[in-house]
Amino acid sequence: MRAALSGYRERAAPEAMGEAARAESRLFVQELRLTNFRNYERAAASLDESPVVLIGDNGTGKTNLLEAVSLLGAGQGLRGRPYEELARKDGPGGWAMAATVMSLEGVVEIGTGFGLSGASEATGRNVRIAGKDQSAGALAHYVQLVWVIPEMDGLFTGPASERRRFLDRLMLAIDPKMSGPRGRYDRAMRQRNRLFQMREGSPSLYAGLEEQMAEAGVAIAAARLDAIARLSALIQATREARGPGPFPFAVLALEGTLERALMERPAVEVEDDYVSLLSEARERDRLAGRALAGPHLSDLIVVHGPHNAPAGDCSSGEQKALLLGLVLAKARLIRELSGAAPLVLLDEVAAHLDHARREALFGEILDLKAQAWMTGTDRETFASLASQAQILAVNRGRIGA
Ligand SMILES: Nc1ncnc2c1ncn2[C@@H]1O[C@H](COP(=O)(O)OP(=O)(O)OP(=O)(O)O)[C@@H](O)[C@H]1O
Ligand SMILES: [Mg+2]
Repeated sequence: MRAALSGYRERAAPEAMGEAARAESRLFVQELRLTNFRNYERAAASLDESPVVLIGDNGTGKTNLLEAVSLLGAGQGLRGRPYEELARKDGPGGWAMAATVMSLEGVVEIGTGFGLSGASEATGRNVRIAGKDQSAGALAHYVQLVWVIPEMDGLFTGPASERRRFLDRLMLAIDPKMSGPRGRYDRAMRQRNRLFQMREGSPSLYAGLEEQMAEAGVAIAAARLDAIARLSALIQATREARGPGPFPFAVLALEGTLERALMERPAVEVEDDYVSLLSEARERDRLAGRALAGPHLSDLIVVHGPHNAPAGDCSSGEQKALLLGLVLAKARLIRELSGAAPLVLLDEVAAHLDHARREALFGEILDLKAQAWMTGTDRETFASLASQAQILAVNRGRIGA
């Protein structure tokens, strides 16, 4: 087994892996057991590596199940909700989940839960990997995920914070170690904001925090640029290889003080400049109560390639196809870097696509060799995939064949 905590960058370069070896690596959930998770009192499923289709009426627990699967990866799950909300109402409080996963590091038992027995922190979840207590961040080395959920319909028109989250999930998928700088930046910025509120703090206290913000902030901006460059290169290569496809290609750019500076100057200079900027902006930031420049305000700019128009100006159907294309490209990128396609969670996606796009989506998922989890209310939607997928009926907190 490879060192469990190695990041992708320490692994064999993708070019060094044979195509055959790469094709053999699969990531998939084999067993899933839920206890008091949302509307599931107790539920279990046994699965193979093929795509999973969840069929059930509205309100039966399809999205909840996808949310549970998303918690096998690092982060707070696909709804990003507080962990206490995931505990079944009318249950004992707290929830638990156990899974056997064919992971990037071989078969592994993953357990995660919240608030049941001896939770160490009030807000974090417990994570056990192969019998050892770990941080949720360690899951990134075993399970990678991408998802499209209805809440992302407004990604291109809504607030920049949503696009930033999307961008940073991409960054973390490429380099899980970036969770370190992200945490450091947020903590230093929050402490600086608190000093403003308390109307105190010596100049050296501010300077120390601003140096931490600059060090971590420049690392974040550089990793974001790297992520966008890699994804753009993959999108370009796919276009050249396949020609125009059912999902329009995206042209990506980053808007942000540090990201822009890094495209023109070396990182050390950008870091020094940002320290000076923060120091000079102290009075202005004090009045605002927060830092008015930095990577916490950056935005991901997405252009609909074939139309050469901002994604936000496109029709809702065009935006959905663009988003799906972007997420599928991200899944291919993760496969190139890690050797296995991520779990692909697609909530209420298939039913909203026209026939040609739906068939193209199924083809893409089979080609990726991803254990995709798709939801729908109607079996007919998935008829052409039925022989190559595992179809599960979800009915009021029960998962059946
Ligand atoms: N903590 C909880 N405890 C108990 N039930 C919950 C909890 N959180 C959500 N639910 C309920 O779980 C049910 C299933 O929700 P879910 O979002 O999974 O439905 P769905 O099958 O995806 O439906 P739709 O097709 O409408 O999207 C809902 O009735 C919801 O109110
Ligand atoms: Mg749902």
